[in-house]
Amino acid sequence: MAEISLKSVSKAYVNPVFSLTVLDKADLTIPEGAFAAVQGPSGSGKSTLLNLIGALDRADGGDIRVMGTDIASLPQRRLAEFRNRTIGFVFQSFHLMPVLTAAENVAWPLYFQGVRRRDRMRAAREKLALVGLSDHADKIPGRLSGGQRQRVAIARALVCDPAVILADEPTANLDRKTARDVMDLLRDINSRRGATLLCATHDPLVVERANRVIELSEGKLTMRSDPPAVGTEERHA
Ligand SMILES: Nc1ncnc2c1ncn2[C@@H]1O[C@H](COP(=O)(O)OP(=O)(O)OP(=O)(O)O)[C@@H](O)[C@H]1O
Ligand SMILES: [Mg+2]
Repeated sequence: MAEISLKSVSKAYVNPVFSLTVLDKADLTIPEGAFAAVQGPSGSGKSTLLNLIGALDRADGGDIRVMGTDIASLPQRRLAEFRNRTIGFVFQSFHLMPVLTAAENVAWPLYFQGVRRRDRMRAAREKLALVGLSDHADKIPGRLSGGQRQRVAIARALVCDPAVILADEPTANLDRKTARDVMDLLRDINSRRGATLLCATHDPLVVERANRVIELSEGKLTMRSDPPAVGTEERHA
């Protein structure tokens, strides 16, 4: 089953002065368990696309399904619940809460599932261990490096064991070594836990690890490579 599917999806930002079409009847299918990278120039609409798939924003038209659920059809409350349980977000600028410790930040999404504080904190520490931050669990984000903050954000995205992880330029603020570590970690989570991973990126480090590369240009999404296409390239090499 396709985990993420877009059919003829359109999105424009309209204001009194102008209207900007970001997606123009775009189609996309990402199967369960894939690791997909969306490439496109700055301003082409990668973040917009992730926000639509993650139901943080609504499309103007078309059909978006995540795990078979038509997200436009869900009322606000159900939508928030669906997002919380199904989707893990890693934002470009982390979006950590500055007054909470790393562990409290990671535990936060579980609060909405009614998980008790003790169990939340245990789950948070487990995920922090997974991203190599056990020793930093009690620090506030202001006392962590950029790469450490990014890993806290990843741990938070994982805390509800989401089927889908959406990561917006997950390596943009990281040095090369940390970027490699973070991507290896995400790839591991993708291959070991079977979480579908969709990254918006400019970074070759991300693209070379992906098994599908999607190009976003002039409102259209084109699959630039998927496993059979890579095979074809190899035959021609
Ligand atoms: N809330 C908004 N209101 C109006 N225009 C917006 C809004 N959000 C984004 N845009 C515009 O829509 C276009 C797509 O923006 P988006 O952030 O999705 O691009 P992007 O591909 O993620 O860019 P980058 O690589 O720089 O992160 C841009 O031209 C941007 O200026
Ligand atoms: Mg962006």
